[in-house]
Amino acid sequence: MEKRKSIIILDFGGQYAHLIGNRVRRLGAFSEILPPETPAETLKYAAGIILSGGPQSVYDKGSPQADPKILELGIPVLGLCYGLHWMTQALGGEVRPGHVKEYGRTRIETVNHGGSILQDCGDSCVVWMSHGDEAATLPPGFTLIATSDACKNAAFENTNKHLYALQFHPEVTHSEHGTDILKRFVDLCKPDPWSIESYAKHVGEEVKQDAKDKKVFMLVSGGVDSTVAFTLLNQVLGADRVQGLLVDTGLMRKNEVKLIKEAFDRLGIKNLRVEDASKEFFAALEGVYEPEQKRKAIGNTFLEVQRRVFQEMGLAESREQKAESNWLLGQGTIYPDTIETGGTKHADHIKTHHNRVEAVQKMIDAGLVIEPLKDLYKDEVRKLGEELGLPHELVWRHPFPGPGLGVRILCTQEEQRAESREQKVESGSFSNVILPIKSVGVQGDGRSYKHALVLFGNIEELDKKAAWELATDIPNKNKEINRVLFCTSHTTPVPFSVTPFTITRARADLLREADSIVHDAMVERGLYEKIWQFPVVLLPIGVEPGHEAIVLRPVDSTEAMTANATRLDQRFLETVTQQLMKLPGIDLVFYDLTSKPPGTIEWE
Ligand code: XMP
Repeated sequence: MEKRKSIIILDFGGQYAHLIGNRVRRLGAFSEILPPETPAETLKYAAGIILSGGPQSVYDKGSPQADPKILELGIPVLGLCYGLHWMTQALGGEVRPGHVKEYGRTRIETVNHGGSILQDCGDSCVVWMSHGDEAATLPPGFTLIATSDACKNAAFENTNKHLYALQFHPEVTHSEHGTDILKRFVDLCKPDPWSIESYAKHVGEEVKQDAKDKKVFMLVSGGVDSTVAFTLLNQVLGADRVQGLLVDTGLMRKNEVKLIKEAFDRLGIKNLRVEDASKEFFAALEGVYEPEQKRKAIGNTFLEVQRRVFQEMGLAESREQKAESNWLLGQGTIYPDTIETGGTKHADHIKTHHNRVEAVQKMIDAGLVIEPLKDLYKDEVRKLGEELGLPHELVWRHPFPGPGLGVRILCTQEEQRAESREQKVESGSFSNVILPIKSVGVQGDGRSYKHALVLFGNIEELDKKAAWELATDIPNKNKEINRVLFCTSHTTPVPFSVTPFTITRARADLLREADSIVHDAMVERGLYEKIWQFPVVLLPIGVEPGHEAIVLRPVDSTEAMTANATRLDQRFLETVTQQLMKLPGIDLVFYDLTSKPPGTIEWE
């Protein structure tokens, strides 16, 4: 635990702790995430404690438990969801399964809330719920402060003892007054102030300590994270102790390599070698269909190329890169990368990030990896980049996944011909077809791999609420669906073919062109800085056999944990669709209306 008075988040699992940590830091307080069982003795210097949500039931054997003495330290404690359950049980209240599982947006009514932690919420507000259990009785000394239709005891507190419990998740952006509630709690805690400027210093010291007298070799992708990490390493350790390698995987965006090289040149950073390894990547991806296998193939090829170059450049001191080697591997891993691979103790495995494949994990365990951004969220990485003097346009580039276009080129092994008959799902004035291929999504704290449903209709209908409501309702009501798309190239269902494809250079070239069309349209319309990220996806589905579809997936987000589909206007959609339909081999265009959850930002 840091010496400064910070807010400690005890992580009961899932993704919540990290989201809370990010929000608290944005409110100007340093947050640290610690395991739930951390002893009260260690926590007594904290400014406050937040107990995170988590996927388990508090009364189950083996479920994570905190030290009950933390409730007697006299410092403010806020229990959220599972944290509320644990607090209730620890203080003599009763927790049991609720009558219904509540998941998603819910309205709460506040009661007795003058002077309470909910005092900025008005008489009622919308919050994000995700729970099966509830507090059936309050612990003695607590006052009820909010209630919902499905959950009588939605929030309660004991202000004398500075203990607060909320069944909902104020850290999730969908909770209307979430930030107000967290701010009120943070203010009550009176933590030491924190800023990214101070963190920049701290991280620099940490890098020096971790690197000791070793040099750092780093793969640079040109994305925000690796750019910031590489620049930081250069500034802290000096150019003679750092060597960068930009691997051209063949899965980069159009002109990407040239742009990155030029940008670093302008910054005076010359220790970056560019290596065209596209042949090796396409060879490794031959015959690979499954999303996780694609990620593993790409991740392992990265490492092989890196090892080869390492040898060629004479960087290895022995044939094998051993623990006593003079070199460390630098990576731009950020916090969400770690948790999404199941990096924290109680998190479910959602997907493997290329910088967390087995071979890298072994190197991490052997102390051969340095990851200066591993505790930061995207928005913090960007601020740090600016702090380091990186140009605005580099720092504010849309996030781009390490495995590049590889995750956005969907593959399938089965040939299929689907008719336009399906209409099994209730979709109001729209016709619909369920696509025969699956994509990755996220549900609760877990991963899903399900079908997308396509709506067909007049594009003007997209201005109405109904289409967007369907995007929420359909995945909620249909277990086999995790995404809802709108077809922008056809107004009525067409029969289409699914062609078995893996990732090939020709498909990567096709997606690169499509991606560039969308990128240019976004910049021309002044939308680049308004949209958080805009994946363009290639699906092996076409009206003509062998032809393919493009999916437009623009999203608004702050930290990639949750996201909403960006509402694009009709003219933009029509213009881009027309341009995409001119690409040889493309004869369908879809617009993804799904939020995250239940979809993910990428398709995979
Ligand atoms: P999802 O698809 O999980 O994506 O909603 C969340 C964010 O993570 C990015 N992403 C990656 N970034 N390496 C990265 O550096 C990866 O392997 C990777 N996979 C997804 C994604 O683009 C989005 O911003």
